[in-house]
Amino acid sequence: MNAIIAEVARRGRVSFAEFMELALYHPEAGYYTRRRSGPGPVGAAGDFITAPTATPLFARTLAVMLRRLSRGLGEQVTFVELGAGEGLSLRRVVAELGGVGPGALRRVVAVEVADWARERLVAECPGVEARRSLAELPHPSGPVVLFASELYDALPAHRITVRRRGGVLEHVEYFVEPSGGGRLRWALGALSRPELESYLVTHNLVLEEGQVAELRPDAEAVHAGHLAWCGKNAVALILDYGYPARQLYNPRGRKQGSLVGYRGHSLVSNVLSNPGGVDITAHVNFDDLTNAAAGLGWDRGQIRPLGAFLALHGALDLLPAGAARGEPLSPADWAELATAKKLLAPSGMAVDQKVLEQGKGPAWQAYCKLATPPPVDA
Ligand SMILES: C[S@@+](CC[C@H](N)C(=O)[O-])C[C@H]1O[C@@H](n2cnc3c(N)ncnc32)[C@H](O)[C@@H]1O
Repeated sequence: MNAIIAEVARRGRVSFAEFMELALYHPEAGYYTRRRSGPGPVGAAGDFITAPTATPLFARTLAVMLRRLSRGLGEQVTFVELGAGEGLSLRRVVAELGGVGPGALRRVVAVEVADWARERLVAECPGVEARRSLAELPHPSGPVVLFASELYDALPAHRITVRRRGGVLEHVEYFVEPSGGGRLRWALGALSRPELESYLVTHNLVLEEGQVAELRPDAEAVHAGHLAWCGKNAVALILDYGYPARQLYNPRGRKQGSLVGYRGHSLVSNVLSNPGGVDITAHVNFDDLTNAAAGLGWDRGQIRPLGAFLALHGALDLLPAGAARGEPLSPADWAELATAKKLLAPSGMAVDQKVLEQGKGPAWQAYCKLATPPPVDA
């Protein structure tokens, strides 16, 4: 029997958050953590693409921003990528900046829970330190840029709904239990943690009857831990799918929540099928991240669509040069232009993905100068 299904059977019944933790991070069978000899989960040969891996334009743009930030500050920066996977994007960023040490980068840290991915990353990215958790590393000195792409939407989420019983509306939680024959099924029950009810109150959420919502009551504390590690001279750039609470939990938007699976670049609607073989993701409540920043005295930050973020940092100037001059393009340049458009055109990933920019101290002041659009008539 699949090790994840066996573990659910052993526990009898688990909250969806516990199931998601097992399905993605079970040491031997989890989608992200199980050993892989071939392609990893992310990329054309995997199950889904992410913005940083879709095109080298992303890493190039990030590298330009880091170089300008380091110049603006007059010192090198520590660059940290959380949930770096096998480093497909990080290796490009480091290469663009000429490696760790001589130029803009004082130090580069990759944080990744999957052992196999960290091993590949270290082999491919000379000079990069890779750790399972930020807590394993001493606090940095000097300015820090913390970057994460699709980390928070991969954190386990509780799934709740509202049902009417005896004429009264009540919050209930989705659990996962064995249904026989090595399969799993949903079951509804009382909320597994009091924090879920307080989360609804704190975020001022009123769910309608039948509405489904995914909640991460620990996300604020997790993000606060990441920001606190950075110290008081830092910028955090968080790229993810999500919205502030009032939009994410608006019943006129996603009444059935945002939980989905991916396999082979196709949506999987039954996330209980094939545990460990399917990516599972649910949108981020960006208010958790802004509250974490505010709680530490950081600037709560602003949220930009991905395309706007890239354009602001000069991505349009980094497109294949011949494209702007209308010259014939090589097949490689055509391919690059096509993927770059996915991140820049005002549709799809370019608007669905958001970048939350937050910071504190001199690094944040220098970043804000870079990220302020020039006046229209400049
Ligand atoms: C959706 S993938 C994104 C990979 C990469 N950032 C990208 O955009 O292509 C999420 C990654 O975060 C890692 N991850 C999940 N939780 C983590 C945690 N608490 N600490 C570090 N890495 C984590 C997963 O193992 C996986 O590699």
